Amino acid sequence: MTDIKTGINQRGLLVDKHSVSFRMYGRGFRQYDLEVIHELSIELHPGEIVAIAGASGSGKSVLAHSILGILPDNAFTTGAVYYDGRPLDQKTKEIFRGRRITLIPQSVNYLDPLMTVGAQLISPAPGDGGRALRREKAAALLERYGLAAEVMDYYPHQLSGGMARRVLVASAAACPAELIIADEPTPGMDKKAVEETIRLFKQLAGEGRGIMLITHDIEMAVLTASRVAVFRDGTVIETVPAAAFSGDGSALGHPFTRALYRALPQNGFSGDFKEAV
Ligand SMILES: Nc1ncnc2c1ncn2[C@@H]1O[C@H](COP(=O)(O)OP(=O)(O)OP(=O)(O)O)[C@@H](O)[C@H]1O
Ligand SMILES: [Mg+2]
Repeated sequence: MTDIKTGINQRGLLVDKHSVSFRMYGRGFRQYDLEVIHELSIELHPGEIVAIAGASGSGKSVLAHSILGILPDNAFTTGAVYYDGRPLDQKTKEIFRGRRITLIPQSVNYLDPLMTVGAQLISPAPGDGGRALRREKAAALLERYGLAAEVMDYYPHQLSGGMARRVLVASAAACPAELIIADEPTPGMDKKAVEETIRLFKQLAGEGRGIMLITHDIEMAVLTASRVAVFRDGTVIETVPAAAFSGDGSALGHPFTRALYRALPQNGFSGDFKEAV
């Protein structure tokens, strides 16, 4: 049984009426607070892939960074984030990061320029079965992505954009964390690598991991996830089963979600999505 108010007995992630603001300084050093996430609630169970789809600037990365506890110092939050029923304060987020919850960051700049790919792939989670085993697993993941074993010895500046993205995805998959937050994992990847990413995410979910897939690509969201949470202006306007994105879209409740669906190329790119934003 889930108790949505306390998170008690809720397995996986529960975000409950969560708001995030940034303290800003305007003209004459006037201080004001800019709220970018508004009373957002979402849940994600083990073994489930939930997509988060929404326009640029709607707060998707801020939500991811808040769950991971990597917001900048001028940010403050209200509401709550629970994992396996446990409220996550900043200290717990730091303990969980890279161990129980991991991030595929939106920017490839998160790769450490001074560490080889191999060192980064096997470093995130100490104490999970030994380095040699993790190295083997990481090499197999790279191979799956068409990257040769030598790539383990490359530094980030030796990778193309698409290669760096594949390394970031492989890095999260090599880490034993139960929850993966993938923030736009596929831009710059070719079609084959995108397909491989979808397969990999489904496999990881099959192993019981939860995946939050943040993407602009509604087609990828529908192909990968079981549910799609539609983001607009810092909150989830509705969460719908991925299967509702079919036919004429009449199973989709919100006009914004229907506009998002109609904007798919195979639905004639009506341009409504832009208008709706
Ligand atoms: N450190 C910060 N200080 C002030 N405002 C911020 C900060 N970080 C993000 N924002 C604002 O929060 C809002 C949400 O940003 P966010 O990066 O989460 O968008 P997004 O949905 O991930 O967009 P995209 O799809 O382009 O990645 C934006 O208006 C952004 O300007
Ligand atoms: Mg973002």
